Amino acid sequence: MTEPQLPPVLDGFDLSDQSRFADGFPHHVFARLRREAPVFFHPAASTADGEGFWVLSRYEDIKAAAADPAFSSQGGGGRVGGGTHIDDLAPGVHAGTMLNMMDDPRHQAIRDAVSPSVDAAALAAMEPELRAIAEDLVARAVEGGEGDLMVDVAGPFAITAALLLLGVPRRDWPPLRAWADVSMGFDDREAGVDTERSQMARVALYQYGTGALKARAADPGRDLLSLVARAELPDGERPMSAYEREVFFNLILGAGSEPPRNAIAHGLLALAEHPEQWKALREDRSLVPGAVEEMLRWSSPTPYNRRTATRDVELGGTLIRAGEKVTFWWASANRDESVFADPDVFDIRRDPNPHLAFGFGAHGCMGERMGRLELRLVLEALLDRVGELRPAGPVRWARSNKHTVILNLPMTYADATPVPAPARPEEPPSALPANPGLYVITQLLPFNPFDPAFRADPYPVYRKIAEAGPVTRTPGGTVVVTGHREVSAALRDPLIGWGDGQSVAEHFGRDPEGRPVRQFIFMDPPDHTRIRSLVSKAFTARAIERLRPRAAEITSRLLAAAGTSFDLMDAVAHPLPALLLGELMGVPEDNLDRFRAWSAAIGRGLDPDFVLTREQVAQRQGAREQFNQYFAELAARRRAEPAEDLMSALVAAEQEGDRLTETELVTTCTLLVSAGYALTVHLIGNGVLALLREPGQLAWLRANPDRLGGAVEELLRYDAPAQVISRVVLADTEIGGVPVRAGESLLLILGAANRDPAVYDEPDRLDLARQSGGRNLGFGHGIHFCLGAPLARLAVQAALTELIPLDLEIAEPGPRHTEGMVIRGLASLPVTVRGRAG
Ligand code: HEM
Ligand code: HEM
Repeated sequence: MTEPQLPPVLDGFDLSDQSRFADGFPHHVFARLRREAPVFFHPAASTADGEGFWVLSRYEDIKAAAADPAFSSQGGGGRVGGGTHIDDLAPGVHAGTMLNMMDDPRHQAIRDAVSPSVDAAALAAMEPELRAIAEDLVARAVEGGEGDLMVDVAGPFAITAALLLLGVPRRDWPPLRAWADVSMGFDDREAGVDTERSQMARVALYQYGTGALKARAADPGRDLLSLVARAELPDGERPMSAYEREVFFNLILGAGSEPPRNAIAHGLLALAEHPEQWKALREDRSLVPGAVEEMLRWSSPTPYNRRTATRDVELGGTLIRAGEKVTFWWASANRDESVFADPDVFDIRRDPNPHLAFGFGAHGCMGERMGRLELRLVLEALLDRVGELRPAGPVRWARSNKHTVILNLPMTYADATPVPAPARPEEPPSALPANPGLYVITQLLPFNPFDPAFRADPYPVYRKIAEAGPVTRTPGGTVVVTGHREVSAALRDPLIGWGDGQSVAEHFGRDPEGRPVRQFIFMDPPDHTRIRSLVSKAFTARAIERLRPRAAEITSRLLAAAGTSFDLMDAVAHPLPALLLGELMGVPEDNLDRFRAWSAAIGRGLDPDFVLTREQVAQRQGAREQFNQYFAELAARRRAEPAEDLMSALVAAEQEGDRLTETELVTTCTLLVSAGYALTVHLIGNGVLALLREPGQLAWLRANPDRLGGAVEELLRYDAPAQVISRVVLADTEIGGVPVRAGESLLLILGAANRDPAVYDEPDRLDLARQSGGRNLGFGHGIHFCLGAPLARLAVQAALTELIPLDLEIAEPGPRHTEGMVIRGLASLPVTVRGRAG
């Protein structure tokens, strides 16, 4: 990387480069700027938009500019974006919408409406609970004599305080703290860098806040969110928009927790480095308020805020033009030697101490009182318990110029006096998942796929959704289709498909050049048509039929090995499809173990990333890559030496010119094993469970083995392994008379359509002899109708043929359903063989 051209006054330090801040704040750079270039134009260097910006470093200049309405927090001077970061933030999302990025008079009107939540009376009311939280965290942290003061105390305390201020019920604190950590990047130790996960967490917090705001509007309390919900602006100001109110939740969680956590940690680090001042505080608590101010000055956790010049302004003899960006470096003002004697000395007795850690002017910190209270409460709880604080290892700072973020602060707590923590109130556990993605999904889905009751029996939930109509929308705007007629129509509509594939991007593989490649199940015509027709040619009836005797043999071998008491999923449902698919593809028998392990690892292969843990995503990705690599090698072998298998047939298609590329060939094979495997597994499991629960039906099937084909279709209708299909509206159209718009996401619930009373008599009854009703949608419909249906039918029929004659009983602890969103199935189905059915 080439170093940007920086003026010598910066000593090579690029203030726009986040990674330069990994060692804490560069005070030496600012000391020189204050001396030599107090109104300094910083070149574009590392800014995302390639624009330079003004840097103010002297106390008096900053104070004057911060009080001058010519400098806007939202933007202006001809500029589209704006906000308080060096890089522009989008107007309407942040700039001009969030309180801190809005200009007067609207800014002041909104601030007046919400600031009573942090006035002296409100804080006096909150103090006992805040104190108890601080004491609880500190008592536990110091117990072992050492620990990470940021992770154990400062971080959780500051976020909890913000949650308390927002009126979040105590039971939701643990999951929301976890989401906030993800959203600010503390969980993966790269604060300042947005990831998909942190964005998802932000969306989850936003959705949670939006729900809480609605609840507060109906039933207000004394918390900040209630004031936001009810805020009415004075005459002449248009009323607050729903979005302006909604963004408060995220604003307070961020602005209200990031600076205090860093001020607490950084301030305590300074005290640990000055044991004589700690000792003085232990002996004389009247020094505490002064210590709090010095901790704030010293840490200056918000190093800068940006403004935009709305007109030409002269500052210290320098002309700043309309539209230019100006940054106020509070952290530099707080070390200005013309205001603070010995500014680089930490001194809790400093008086006066007019620091600007809370900013200055119209936007000066709204939560200033609360920030001070937080610092005081943690400090007091520690002073009560710890004789001496000693730094115990390297401090880790995040790479951020926007906040001086401490990630880790190892500390020894010497001469600890045990003072018990106040009792922690008992709370029922939160209904929120620890993973914010799961929460987002429940906003976007009409049901909660992670609710154990739903997993055990989703059909009453579907019935309730369908009562609102065959086509409805979730709060998050997903179009939900439950009617049989409507799902069929949507699957046939050429205006409904996958489009650019954004919605399923996480399922894409990469070609050797790193370009994303999708499996053809996620393609629209004409690519879909081309690949599907090539694959269909290779997927001949003859190739499938050849497997019929093998399926019977494999099943009886598996059953013989299983004994009389086994898990049906492990013993039969999983291995049978894996072995059959292996044979179909032409995987040599001695590779089948590996093949089966990868198939199992693909597991919840159809679920979106954000409902999976990182380990599950990594596992799935790893298994896919192993399959891709394996199939690439197998293809090479079959090119050299064709055999009688699907791979050889696909290679032949590939060799007919450019009709099937190598990448397409390999991803298609991986699709066949991932789409086909799990669904077949679970049709076996769900089907056997349904039969064991309906002995009358099982007896009928034993008596009518020639009706097995129809019985499998009914089992598929009754409890389909693929419960939902997603699609995207490509162009405005309608489904069952309900208009849908381009870009909308569709959720087609096959499980609901298959039990639509408009199509099936007594839809909740398993009736293996069923004649009435339309074709069930368990294999889909339209151009993506399951290509593997004949193979799936064959496998399930083979399994049932061997299993039906046995007298099976469901054993303890009973069946357990899998987790997952798309696939409905069993994780285990313990059974005992009592003999052969007589
Ligand atoms: C050590 C603690 C804190 C520090 C050092 C701090 C620092 C700051 C600074 C420097 C600003 C000015 C931003 C600008 O000029 O653009 C600010 C604004 C703000 N702070 Fe704090 N803050 C702290 C605690 C809190 C807390 C606990 C809350 C919770 C309510 C909070 C809420 C806000 C809000 C809402 C604003 C925007 C005010 C406005 O634009 O009118 N802060 N804070
Ligand atoms: C009981 C077992 C199975 C069930 C319930 C099932 C279900 C489905 C469903 C619902 C679809 C439509 C997806 C959509 O429209 O988005 C589908 C497509 C597909 N299935 Fe199956 N499947 C099963 C077994 C298999 C097997 C064994 C294979 C292959 C060996 C397979 C290969 C495929 C392929 C390639 C597609 C995509 C077709 C296309 O996009 O044109 N399936 N399956």
